[in-house]
Amino acid sequence: MSKWLVTGAGGSLGHDLVAVLSAEASIELMAMSRSELDITSAAAVREAVAGHDVVVNAAAWTDVDGAESDEPGALAVNGTGAAHIAAACAESGAVLVQVSTDYVFSGDATQPYPEDAPIHPVNAYGRTKAAGEAAVRELLPDRGFVVRTAWLYGEHGRNFVATILRASGERETLDVVNDAHGQPTWSFPLAQRLVGLGQAAAAGQAPPGIYHGTASGRTTWYGLAREIFALSGLDPDRIKPVTSDHIRRPARRPGYSVLSHAGWARAGMAPLADWREMLADALGRPAFAALQGGPR
Ligand SMILES: NC(=O)c1ccc[n+]([C@@H]2O[C@H](COP(=O)([O-])OP(=O)(O)OC[C@H]3O[C@@H](n4cnc5c(N)ncnc54)[C@H](OP(=O)(O)O)[C@@H]3O)[C@@H](O)[C@H]2O)c1
Repeated sequence: MSKWLVTGAGGSLGHDLVAVLSAEASIELMAMSRSELDITSAAAVREAVAGHDVVVNAAAWTDVDGAESDEPGALAVNGTGAAHIAAACAESGAVLVQVSTDYVFSGDATQPYPEDAPIHPVNAYGRTKAAGEAAVRELLPDRGFVVRTAWLYGEHGRNFVATILRASGERETLDVVNDAHGQPTWSFPLAQRLVGLGQAAAAGQAPPGIYHGTASGRTTWYGLAREIFALSGLDPDRIKPVTSDHIRRPARRPGYSVLSHAGWARAGMAPLADWREMLADALGRPAFAALQGGPR
């Protein structure tokens, strides 16, 4: 039996991690949500991590706009909190899988970002997540795994896919941004991959470092919305393309969030599936199926 700890277990990705790990007969799981473990407390983290073989940190300050006005608050979770976990893993001998973001990049590239591309965070949230990455790599050079993801959606919590499905029943046409490029990623196969990586890492079969946990291929939010409609039997022409320049939000968003996936080969793993294939599978799940069926 290997012993795993999931932090941030009450979050969107956390839910899927718990589902995947609970189905693994060889894994004994301790899942801790924020009320059970606040990762900003070094002492509580140390106590929680002790005795575990693998830790997956899915806890994060994810309020991207809120991080602009309270960067120290976001840093306490995304930077210092991650550092507490990495330090506790260094002390106890555990492997750490740390979830990070495409926002560590500026988002003005024209080619997919490789794992070792220089970082240049696009906003305050990105800076705090970059601090978490740096802490994990520095404190756990032999057992620290950073998996950057982006454009996540899942059955739990708020996300773009659920928002579009809900809006499909409320409005005839929807304006959706067509000048931001990315890789829509379902949190369930990401959770499966994080577990696979943790298992390979614990068996000494995956080199530590940075991996890109996003779907293959790429699209825009507009392309994603059209595909959601098409897969739901709705008319994709109800989606209207707009540019992002008229949307004012506190935090800058990247225009180009496409990550390359060559790093998985080092762990003997293929990149995650194409975003369209992933989306078709996700929409078959009960939580999304229940949102489908707006006016045609
Ligand atoms: N969603 C995306 O599109 C996206 C994109 C790129 C990267 N990511 C990364 O993916 C990971 C999972 O995010 P998610 O989408 O699952 O976000 P989420 O649903 O917001 O989950 C994050 C969880 O962390 C918890 N948390 C916040 N502060 C904490 C603390 N001090 N101690 C312990 N737990 C704390 C939150 O609890 P409360 O809800 O009670 O605050 C929440 O349950 C994060 O590392 C995030 O940065 C997400």
